[in-house]
Amino acid sequence: MFGKRSVGDVPTAAPAQPAAAPPAARVQAAVGAKPPMPQAPRAPASAPAAPPRAAAPSVSAPNPRMQASEPAEQTPEFRSEAYYRVKSTIFNALIETIDLAQLAQLDPESARDEIRDIVAEIISIKNVVMSIAEQESLLDDICNDVLGYGPLEPLLARDDIADVMVNGANAVFIEVNGKISKTGIRFRDNGQLMNICQRIVSQVGRRVDESSPICDARLPDGSRVNVIVPPLAIDGPTLTIRKFKKDKLKLANLVEFGSISPAGAKILQIIGACRCNVLISGGTGSGKTTLLNTLTAFIDPTERVITCEDAAELQLQQPHVVRLETRPPNLEGSGQVTMRDLVKNCLRMRPERIIVGEVRGSEAFDLLQAMNTGHDGSMGTLHANTPREALSRLESMITMGGFSLPPKTIREIIVAAVDVVIQAARLRDGSRRITQITEVLGLEGDTIITQDLLTYEIQGEDQNGRINGRHRGTGVGRPRFWERARYFGLEKELAIALDEAESA
Ligand SMILES: Nc1ncnc2c1ncn2[C@@H]1O[C@H](COP(=O)(O)OP(=O)(O)OP(=O)(O)O)[C@@H](O)[C@H]1O
Ligand SMILES: [Mg+2]
Repeated sequence: MFGKRSVGDVPTAAPAQPAAAPPAARVQAAVGAKPPMPQAPRAPASAPAAPPRAAAPSVSAPNPRMQASEPAEQTPEFRSEAYYRVKSTIFNALIETIDLAQLAQLDPESARDEIRDIVAEIISIKNVVMSIAEQESLLDDICNDVLGYGPLEPLLARDDIADVMVNGANAVFIEVNGKISKTGIRFRDNGQLMNICQRIVSQVGRRVDESSPICDARLPDGSRVNVIVPPLAIDGPTLTIRKFKKDKLKLANLVEFGSISPAGAKILQIIGACRCNVLISGGTGSGKTTLLNTLTAFIDPTERVITCEDAAELQLQQPHVVRLETRPPNLEGSGQVTMRDLVKNCLRMRPERIIVGEVRGSEAFDLLQAMNTGHDGSMGTLHANTPREALSRLESMITMGGFSLPPKTIREIIVAAVDVVIQAARLRDGSRRITQITEVLGLEGDTIITQDLLTYEIQGEDQNGRINGRHRGTGVGRPRFWERARYFGLEKELAIALDEAESA
């Protein structure tokens, strides 16, 4: 049955309008408008000019003729003031008319149809001048507000966006092709934004408000979401979404984008296949998780792999994968399951490889222990700007985790565990590159010795500001994992790849 409120709305058992009631009459009763005027001629979609912009429409005006938009094409990201005014009038009338509780019981398709019917009626009663195309776009927009994530919907539907960043109701930024730009999208007010944040986090059984103002969540499509609201976020609810890419990038794509050279990709493939223990290091959004995901493609399908993540982002293609996810504390502050709990538990699950989405705390110790105790080929990412910094961050994570081991012992554990560190970076032109493939050689005194196998040299930039550079082998002919590659029958391929990398 319809989700419209009956006339003279009684909050509890008000029966819905009989289907036979003329829809316009129902809407009028609720919006308090006069009977519909004869429909104003609609401007064709490609109308060359529109009448001057109307003053802000008022619901109580007897027969306001409202102008929805400027003649120029309006994309969801760039709408005019007039559009927002009309939308807000129609939206308010809709909210008056509709019974949200009943609407919530309909399946999304019927709810959308229902809203479309009512909005079309309101538009006709209020005599809004709109082309069919504009009306369609307004209908979509309003349906998104009522049923989905409101103004975020058109952004979530785009696959070219990597991140959506909302800093309060009037500032929405996106990242496309490594570049951040501000969109014209905005929310009615911080209240609407807060409702949408609430809607997102409630789907994973959480709540966000003044008393618990920070929350991580996930959209149904897998996108990773962080919400932080006032009083911690000073300018209004702040929402950060890392969009889930349906088609994950593969190593071949990274080669195509110039993120790594073909020879470098071959070296990475061998590193993945011959079960080296790998750390992927990089800054925020530099492509660490993507790189980790591409490396997992070279894991043998017979291996049992266990992944531990804060929000499941990895998509392994192997048949034998167990995916684990951490859990934050509940509202009473209990029930937390940390990354360390997961990694420790992994060790009892007969893993052949352990993959940790992001190493950031004391779980570093357990991961290293796992790498040292027969779980070769384990991998993890961490935030650092160089491979050397990654190793010292690992050391401080262990120290700060409360393990009272002498620094030298910690370094010995690191050196014995980690074979290769791969550095990812987002360069100033927005492109993402693998800037170093570095192997850990050993300890000399108290110092960890590393050796680069491949580096990225920046050579300059073109007239469009794009950075030119090349990946270059450093001339190492026999990396430390040579024997390992030989054991897996990959030493010839490795020799060729190293040669090619050097002569690139
Ligand atoms: N080499 C690449 N070329 C182009 N786009 C890339 C590349 N690597 C990653 N991306 C895109 O960049 C975005 C961020 O990537 P990713 O999630 O892997 O970064 P991250 O370093 O793990 O970020 P965080 O620190 O937030 O976890 C994603 O949308 C991803 O598709
Ligand atoms: Mg990541």
